[in-house]
Amino acid sequence: MDLFEYRNGALCAEAADVARIADDHGTPLYIYSANTLREHYRRFAAAFAELRPLVCFSVKSCQNIHILRLLREAGSGFDVVSGGELERALAAGADPARIVYAGVGKTDAEIRAALKAGIHVFNVESESELIETAALAGAVGVRPTLALRVNPDVDAETHEYTTTGRKETKFGVDLEVARDVFRRFAADPRVSLSGLHLHLGSPVLSPQAYRVALERVLELVDALRRDGVAVDTLDAGGGFGAHYRGDEAPSAARYAEVIVPLLRGRGLHVILEPGRSIAANAGILVTRVLHVKMSGSKRFVIVDGSMTDLIRPALYGAAHFAWPVQAGAHLPPSRDADAVTGFEPCDIVGPVCESGDFLARDRRIPPVRRGDLIALYTTGAYGMSMSSQYNSRPRAAEVLVDGSAVRLIRRRETMDDLLAPERV
Ligand code: LLP
Repeated sequence: MDLFEYRNGALCAEAADVARIADDHGTPLYIYSANTLREHYRRFAAAFAELRPLVCFSVKSCQNIHILRLLREAGSGFDVVSGGELERALAAGADPARIVYAGVGKTDAEIRAALKAGIHVFNVESESELIETAALAGAVGVRPTLALRVNPDVDAETHEYTTTGRKETKFGVDLEVARDVFRRFAADPRVSLSGLHLHLGSPVLSPQAYRVALERVLELVDALRRDGVAVDTLDAGGGFGAHYRGDEAPSAARYAEVIVPLLRGRGLHVILEPGRSIAANAGILVTRVLHVKMSGSKRFVIVDGSMTDLIRPALYGAAHFAWPVQAGAHLPPSRDADAVTGFEPCDIVGPVCESGDFLARDRRIPPVRRGDLIALYTTGAYGMSMSSQYNSRPRAAEVLVDGSAVRLIRRRETMDDLLAPERV
């Protein structure tokens, strides 16, 4: 579900006209729909309500503090992976008791900041990190709750770069090792090692992958309890799908159908970390056509957005549906690029000096010319948050639409923003 729809041939974000917003705020521009974010959060929380889970929105997917605040108001906690993300969650008014912190390489300074903030759970990813966290906790004088991230060795069948639950990845500790880690650290008075964490990858389009992984982890919970360890927390991670082509991702309810029966009645405090499934379809990237040119037999539409604004196509070969904002009579048949017939194919590319700088390849879209706007869909997650300043390009602005209200939530970076850190 999302609230980006064509009305009279012109794309609207909720009740606001996208072309008008682009004229007011410039391009490239990220536009988010507040009510899509709220509705996705509501559906997710409702689907898993029986478990009374702590839903921790994954900040890395969409990190703007105004969006974090909106989700906090909807009831969300936060999953952070760095001191910077912790800072963002706190700036958005998050209750530290609703923040969980994962990451394979937390620095001492980051761990100390999270200890002082009093976050809910540290998801520790190695024995070495556990030892360091315990030492720092002793020094700071707090007793944090730790969950050990385990690697269930399940193939989530997603892109190699975003699969995290297989043994050959850097994440977590092997299931066989986990029991021994608990045996040695469960009684450490400086920490409360009482939870398990897993995250399979992103996106994981098969609910069955969660079943296989959770069954393995629950076996470990049982074994640990037989060992006398009071395991009371299970963080099942994120990775729930979003719609890039149409409605291909399972709904929150379908994931819950598999996950809830496994976890009900287990005496476990459940944590979930959705990112993409909440934010991806809640955002579009709007970019303006600079030039159209032929190169050999290929047609290139050169736009003012680039891989610095949206790196997913270049990095993962990800396909984001693209369509003119002022489509007139040429409404898209669906969000599936393969369903489009007619029109000359083109590549939609940015100004960056790399052939890998494309936003969409071999796409059939209605004819466009200089000045036209093109929207790239399903870019609310891992769009702006993965942006860069490569080629000294200031980052895009972000706008949040709530009904007919349009609010700038991140101003476009300036030339001064580019140079300021170098004025040393
Ligand atoms: N929890 C942990 C521990 C994670 O590592 C991640 C994502 C999430 C939760 C949230 O996953 P989600 O629900 O958003 O799928 N840049 C890639 C995605 C990388 C995901 C990294 N971890 C992309 O653009 O597809």
